[in-house]
Amino acid sequence: MLKDAYSIPFEARIYQSYLSGIKNHWRTSLYQQVIKEVSNLQTTNIDEIESSMLSSPSYQLYAWQERMTQQFKYIGRGGIKTILEKSRKELLDILQSAGQVNPERLKLNPSCELPDYVGGFDVHQVPGGLGKDALNTWLMVWYQKGLTFAGGNPDALVEWYADLIAKLAKDANANASKVLDLGCTLGRSTMAIKKKMPSAEVFGCDVCEYPLRYGHLFAIENGIDITLCQENAEKLTFKDKTFDIVASHWLFHELPPDAAANVIHEAARVLNPGGIFVIYDMCKVPGGAIGEWLHKGMAIRNNEPYALPLIHTDLTKIMKEAGFKNIQFKTTSPDWPKDTEPSELMKSRYMFMNMYSGIIQKI
Ligand SMILES: C[S@@+](CC[C@H](N)C(=O)[O-])C[C@H]1O[C@@H](n2cnc3c(N)ncnc32)[C@H](O)[C@@H]1O
Repeated sequence: MLKDAYSIPFEARIYQSYLSGIKNHWRTSLYQQVIKEVSNLQTTNIDEIESSMLSSPSYQLYAWQERMTQQFKYIGRGGIKTILEKSRKELLDILQSAGQVNPERLKLNPSCELPDYVGGFDVHQVPGGLGKDALNTWLMVWYQKGLTFAGGNPDALVEWYADLIAKLAKDANANASKVLDLGCTLGRSTMAIKKKMPSAEVFGCDVCEYPLRYGHLFAIENGIDITLCQENAEKLTFKDKTFDIVASHWLFHELPPDAAANVIHEAARVLNPGGIFVIYDMCKVPGGAIGEWLHKGMAIRNNEPYALPLIHTDLTKIMKEAGFKNIQFKTTSPDWPKDTEPSELMKSRYMFMNMYSGIIQKI
């Protein structure tokens, strides 16, 4: 069983709970103090905000905690990577065994090269990155279980994403027989779609091989019938007009602007006429200059260099050029009232997620 593959020792759990405490302090009281100080500044220029705030002890601590709590989760005596290293061989053997059962549902492609924006640096500060060190698949398993911006249920966001996709298809009276989830990592978002649309044939793709291997084993263990493929979303190997829905959950903030445009054009190509495309990500941030300053800080401190360009990319324009119509933008999340845009900064530090959707023209 995948869930019994490794255990986290008591000492490491103590260390991780200590880090959670720091993160909570960062997210709540420290964040509020920084917002209070920055709101008194007389500028909306983010460089001037940064220069003024550099001497603030609260901001210095906020910045340090934002970077280091993320890093400490992985490294050091109680870091999850340290724990996983002790079982490296066994954990990699499990992943190697993927594909022995239902091999037709795991389509690996050894000639699929990692783009630099995936393999060239430690995205999200994951030591060694997700694509270069297969062991980091297990790190993602642990991280995504605990990752929740939406309360206690780590799957709340993917379930919400799947709900939205199903609702968009229903409202558009669109066919939803074949769905592709781009940048699926471990297949969590793909499985949420399959659970929401059980009669659809659902595919997930990612450029990294080992998370797909894990997702395949997990899907089989849990009786979820999906197909996972190793693909670069910028140049998919699927034929034109293959899918009714193409969607992505947290892919776009990891893409440089030219790659984002390529992915949108590829989605248009593989969609059937009338098919639906969904981008769910941090496409815009509320809170004006302060929101952008916080977002830029997060992007730099957490090694997510393309999160800032994304909020300045005109996705509507690119989608129109690619042939989409009925382009909609929504800024709801499970925690916000439906169809409302948060007009001010939230009371605690939060990732602002939102969604673009469009329908491909019938020619
Ligand atoms: C934040 S994760 C997505 C999480 C996932 N959708 C979920 O909901 O659990 C981003 C994923 O996109 C993948 N990725 C980045 N660029 C890609 C590309 N050009 N083609 C396919 N996958 C890509 C990364 O390997 C990573 O696994």
